[in-house]
Amino acid sequence: MLFLGKPFSLNNKMIADLQQSFNMIAKSVGFGGPLNFLPILRFFPQFKHAVPALKDAVNKVAEIHTHLINECQKSMCTKDSPSNLIEAFLLRVSKESSKHNYNIEQLNYLLYDVFIGSTSSTTSSLSWGLLYLAQYEDVQNTMRQELLEILQNKTVQMEDFENLHYTKAAIAEMMRIRTIAPLGIPHYASEDICVEGFTIPKGTMITPLLWAIHMDPKVYKDPEEFRPERFLDKDGRFCKSELLLPFLTGKRICVGEELAIIIMSVLVATVLQNFKIERSDCLDFDGHYGCTLKPKSQQIIFTKI
Ligand code: HEM
Repeated sequence: MLFLGKPFSLNNKMIADLQQSFNMIAKSVGFGGPLNFLPILRFFPQFKHAVPALKDAVNKVAEIHTHLINECQKSMCTKDSPSNLIEAFLLRVSKESSKHNYNIEQLNYLLYDVFIGSTSSTTSSLSWGLLYLAQYEDVQNTMRQELLEILQNKTVQMEDFENLHYTKAAIAEMMRIRTIAPLGIPHYASEDICVEGFTIPKGTMITPLLWAIHMDPKVYKDPEEFRPERFLDKDGRFCKSELLLPFLTGKRICVGEELAIIIMSVLVATVLQNFKIERSDCLDFDGHYGCTLKPKSQQIIFTKI
């Protein structure tokens, strides 16, 4: 795992427990689930179990974080410099705790932010991307052709993306067509604001409807069509759009934006260099909504090239 400075096997019990608890948290919370909007629903039978289940999962994750932090505290005694995020934080705590009020509780929440923020979002986006590539063979072939021309048979590196315009456009289109946080993350108005004549009082919960932008036919013609060309200029070069906001915008924009794009691009490019992706049956693009919008479980076929 990237943030712990070492890889873990998929069979590792701690990682399996962590994943199970995150899945439970994702199921119980939902970025914009009804409980977010109407907390009173927690007294109704179908929602009654959501909060205790969520608390159990949060406690389980906190237990695992404490274990990881203790392990890093022990291993740090023998090191001069940090080799992962936890160690870097602990080093700061030991040097500057009085100056910045850093403490272990903050580290626990930092790990929540980073683990939850990075896992479900990136895997959901990747799953949607692979599903669309299975459906749109022409896009897949154009991407593979570009990869072949630019890289020949070399493994893709980060610096190659400067020249992989169609591939970058396809990644952008994956994030537009199935925005994994269609309702963004709720924020509060920190002061009274006026938008187009409407007053939004301080303290109002604001839900940014990313879906409404990404699927607006006035902004993106035929929004349900998967067309990477939307993000290419007349010379075939990738052009970023101000109206593509999968990571939201402003001060609280996703801190993992660059990392997420690198992970998605490298993984998708590597898969296409090695496999042809096909659908075995009709694909379902409706998805279901928990912490993120995920595709329903379905099969696609990977054939080695
Ligand atoms: C395709 C992948 C990803 C998508 C679509 C995505 C999307 C988002 C969105 C929409 C937000 C809410 C921003 C806001 O509240 O205004 C967010 C926040 C956040 N993301 Fe991501 N994210 C992705 C990957 C990652 C990765 C890889 C990391 C790991 C470093 C990460 C860490 C975070 C954190 C820590 C926050 C909270 C930031 C804050 O509240 O200040 N995300 N992300």
